[in-house]
Amino acid sequence: MKGEEDIERLKTMVNQLIKVEEEVIDLTEKTASQAANATVKYLLRAIQHDSRKHADLGRAALEILEYKQIAGAEERKEVWELLKKHEEMERKHKDFLSEMKSLTQTPALQYIFEQIWNDEKIHHAMLETMMTKRFEKDPAKYWGALLGS
Ligand SMILES: [Fe+2]
Ligand SMILES: [Fe+2]
Repeated sequence: MKGEEDIERLKTMVNQLIKVEEEVIDLTEKTASQAANATVKYLLRAIQHDSRKHADLGRAALEILEYKQIAGAEERKEVWELLKKHEEMERKHKDFLSEMKSLTQTPALQYIFEQIWNDEKIHHAMLETMMTKRFEKDPAKYWGALLGS
C-alpha cells in the first residue's frame, strides 16, 4: 500500500536526518574548539544547539511514525506545571528580547538579537502547541493526528 511505503521511506529518512544532525554536531564541535575567535566560536555553538534541536524533533517525529506514544491530556498532566511556568517565562523573555532589539541600531548586534527573537517565537509556538493540542494515534491518517485540546 502506498501510504505504508511512504511511512517506511519517511522512517528511513528521519533516521538519516538524525544521523546527519549528529555528524554536524560533531563537526561543529571540532571547528568551534579550533576557532581562535570567540565570536565565531559562540555562533558555531549556537548552530550546534539547533542541530541538537533538529535531532530531537526528528526523534519526536519517529515516535509518531512508530505510533509509540501519543501525547494527550493525560500525558500532558505530568508536565503541565512545567509547561505553564515555561510558557510564562518564554513570554516574558520574548518581551525582554524585543526591548533589547529596540535599544541598538548596530547591525551585528541586531542580527544576533534577531536570531534569538526568532527562536523565542518558535519556542512560544511549540509550547502553545503542546499545551493546546493532542498528538494522537490515527491509523486512518497514517501520519498521526494533531488535534485541538
Ligand atoms: Fe539541522
Ligand atoms: Fe526560549
